[in-house]
Amino acid sequence: MTMQFPGQPVREAGDDALRTLRVVDDAPAPSIETLDQTRLPFEERWVRLRSFEDCLRAIASMQVRGAPLIGAVGAYGLALGLRKQADDASLALLTAGLVAARPTAVNLAWAVGRVRDRVAGLAFVARAVAAWVEACAIAEEDVRINRALGEHGAQLLRRLVRPGRPLRILTHCNAGRLATVAYGTALAPVYRLHADAVPVEVWVDETRPRNQGASLTAWELSRAGITCTVVADNAGGELMRQGLVDAVIVGCDRIAANGDVANKVGTYLKALAARDCGVPFYVACPSPTLDLSLPAGGDIPIEERSPREVTHVVGRDAQGAIVEVQLVPDGVPARNPAFDVTPAALVTAIVTEHGPVGANAADLAALAALAARQRREAS
Ligand code: MRU
Repeated sequence: MTMQFPGQPVREAGDDALRTLRVVDDAPAPSIETLDQTRLPFEERWVRLRSFEDCLRAIASMQVRGAPLIGAVGAYGLALGLRKQADDASLALLTAGLVAARPTAVNLAWAVGRVRDRVAGLAFVARAVAAWVEACAIAEEDVRINRALGEHGAQLLRRLVRPGRPLRILTHCNAGRLATVAYGTALAPVYRLHADAVPVEVWVDETRPRNQGASLTAWELSRAGITCTVVADNAGGELMRQGLVDAVIVGCDRIAANGDVANKVGTYLKALAARDCGVPFYVACPSPTLDLSLPAGGDIPIEERSPREVTHVVGRDAQGAIVEVQLVPDGVPARNPAFDVTPAALVTAIVTEHGPVGANAADLAALAALAARQRREAS
């Protein structure tokens, strides 16, 4: 039986070059493809995800990563899983499997939960198509959100431009196009400024242990023709002290009701240094990354990843092969908390698709209400 799959993305001019996730018109039904981020920056390989298992594996292995992107891939993963089995037990099982894959970024639970809620009241036979349509809607919404967030962030950053020198931004991890369906969150304002011919340069934290800055942020910025310089994670404080950073902007994986921010481990230290040096510290946050069900950052689950990511590094050898090498003496233990929490008090502003808001309960509650109202009106 051929199923009809409406809800394919409507692309705008210029979108494609910044897309990390594409729908593919596979027979008998569409699938998705995405850049394999475990091969970057050395190899640009698109992988086809045709099943729930493919999507789950891609998220767990970090072929795809970044809060909004794992949300979108999770949504498609649930839709693909429902093509095989769409009864209530399968719906619950598939949902739980996806949500458990990466615990800190709330976008995954949000997107998968949104698809589940959309189809739960439908007849089993109608679920797969409806889930696919909802996944496409989530992906397209991510593109729109990030474009708007980029405009607002660029307006904010423009105020820091001084004559005769480029705007100097520092960022941590990767919150660019590779972390989203398109444009990125923290890097969306940078892309906007660059498109508007505002000279901008980016200090890129390498972001141990997985080096998302050195391998992913540096890759996407340099491909876009934006000047960037990779620095060791520990260099940011000294750069700020020397007056070489006009603003720090980072993404986030979850923001609690009081404005505390979970993001890639090391973010907190950058926020402390920024406060000490009087450098504005901005957090780019699409509304699906808000989690008002958690009162404060201490309630956010912090993903603990394999110690091997700390004891070893992956890179390219002189022969061009991608290899892993050991850094730490045999038998010495390592710990690998993958995220940290930056207290709201250190955040200058949260940049959203609706404009900048304060990192406080009142502003975030108003933002969540506005985003929910817009979503209701759009559906
Ligand atoms: O472990 P990762 O690579 O998924 O962590 C990504 C980050 O911490 C990003 O800063 C965050 O997801 C925001 S992405 C727009």
